[in-house]
Amino acid sequence: MKNKLKSISKAGVLIFLLSLNSCYYNEIIDDIPLDDVKDISFATDIQPIFTNSCASCHPNSAPPDLTVGNSWIAIMDGNYIVPNDIGASLLYQTMIGNGNIMPPNGGLPSSEINLVKNWIEQGALDN
Ligand code: HEC
Repeated sequence: MKNKLKSISKAGVLIFLLSLNSCYYNEIIDDIPLDDVKDISFATDIQPIFTNSCASCHPNSAPPDLTVGNSWIAIMDGNYIVPNDIGASLLYQTMIGNGNIMPPNGGLPSSEINLVKNWIEQGALDN
């Protein structure tokens, strides 16, 4: 009962904060438990980030291959992403500027960086 009340009030706070200003969402998403993060789809949430911000510089000839249809296998085979381990996921580390920052001009929105983070933490599925 206590737990139920707790999660109801957590959800209430979240909805309240979301209604304040959608920009707050990106910061809050870091702190909410994984169970409360929506299921992220590689095809509809992650690949579009690669397509829009990465693939022009990362065809097959410039690893990791981030083009549609090739990216998931390329990043897994090349160990650029380690499921459930953002620290070991070089691709994620480049997005937050550890080592070479990607894209080189920086500036991926934090909402997109958070999607990649949560996708890795949900097992980096090809879903
Ligand atoms: C303007 C071109 C360009 C864009 C856009 C770009 N990259 Fe890169 N990327 C490079 C180059 C060049 C290298 C090789 C860097 C080196 O070896 O010094 C590289 C290397 C990498 C590496 C290998 C790790 C490393 O430090 O060498 C990863 C992972 C990577 N990019 C991911 C991404 C991701 C993810 C995106 C999109 C969010 C992206 N890149 C967008 C040019 C780009």
